[in-house]
Amino acid sequence: MPGRSTAVLITGCSSGIGRATAERLAASGWRVYASARRLEAIAELADRGCRTLALDVCDEQSMAEAVRTVADAEGAVGVLVNNAGYSQSGAVESVPIERIRRQFETNVFGLIRMCQLVAPGMRAQRWGRIVNIGSMGGKLTFPGGGVYHATKYAIEALSDALRFELRGFGIDVSLVEPGLIRTRFGEAASASISAATPEDEGSSGPYSQFNRQVARITEEAYEGTLARLGAGPQAVAETIATALSAKRPKPRYPVTASARLLINQRRLMPDRAWDLAMRRQFPTPRV
Ligand SMILES: NC(=O)c1ccc[n+]([C@@H]2O[C@H](COP(=O)([O-])OP(=O)(O)OC[C@H]3O[C@@H](n4cnc5c(N)ncnc54)[C@H](OP(=O)(O)O)[C@@H]3O)[C@@H](O)[C@H]2O)c1
Repeated sequence: MPGRSTAVLITGCSSGIGRATAERLAASGWRVYASARRLEAIAELADRGCRTLALDVCDEQSMAEAVRTVADAEGAVGVLVNNAGYSQSGAVESVPIERIRRQFETNVFGLIRMCQLVAPGMRAQRWGRIVNIGSMGGKLTFPGGGVYHATKYAIEALSDALRFELRGFGIDVSLVEPGLIRTRFGEAASASISAATPEDEGSSGPYSQFNRQVARITEEAYEGTLARLGAGPQAVAETIATALSAKRPKPRYPVTASARLLINQRRLMPDRAWDLAMRRQFPTPRV
């Protein structure tokens, strides 16, 4: 359709996957609106050919304003990359409920709301692309990650429904499922545990030892030898670029060989076999 907008709006560009994606897409000629909660965190992206916008996915006004800004300049948001997110880790019982709400507000409700806000413009021009950043953690669950995994499982369901519902309007929806990606994510996940459990911080709480171990395993995964099984954020950016330039984008794009392997292993493994494998790596909280 002549004149349709292919402008790309990306959430969470201050670091990691969002930043790499903004750089990658701008370098290959996409008109990119990189966004972040703090504009100063994305100043450099302006030098790399991106337009920059303030956008907090937990703030209705901020989301609406960002979408309006792009629509006023371009006609519509042509492509939305829902990337903003983090892991609120820790044993489910030990995470304060307001932190769990915040986790869903960011990873799930923010993503839903962004889709709702961009869809009318995409429908009007009968073309659009939505790329949701899920995780291999939307297909399997590590102990101590229940709250985060729940948000990524939710994104699997939402992406399936949206793909069906928006297709007839010319809008394709893809879900990217990264494995371990070396970004600030691991650090933030392990920091979220100690911050999550003030009463559990000492050595006496029922989940103190477990949570400490989850934090240690997370740090090791992102900083130790295991990190070699992962990839840099550019690998995800590359996958997103592939999805956006495909005539018929795939519903799902797992990223990293180890993510593909783990997703398949989990699919084939009975639940009790998975639990046993997890018990070999994580301590069982007990009296
Ligand atoms: N790294 C991995 O191993 C991995 C694996 C699977 C999936 N993922 C997913 O990939 C996505 C990006 O993570 P990353 O690895 O690139 O981690 P990252 O480097 O920590 O980046 C996370 C981004 O999300 C932003 N963000 C958090 N809350 C926000 C909010 N309310 N509004 C707007 N932006 C917000 C952060 O901005 P601030 O600087 O303002 O906090 C930051 O830009 C996440 O959805 C994550 O779940 C990551």
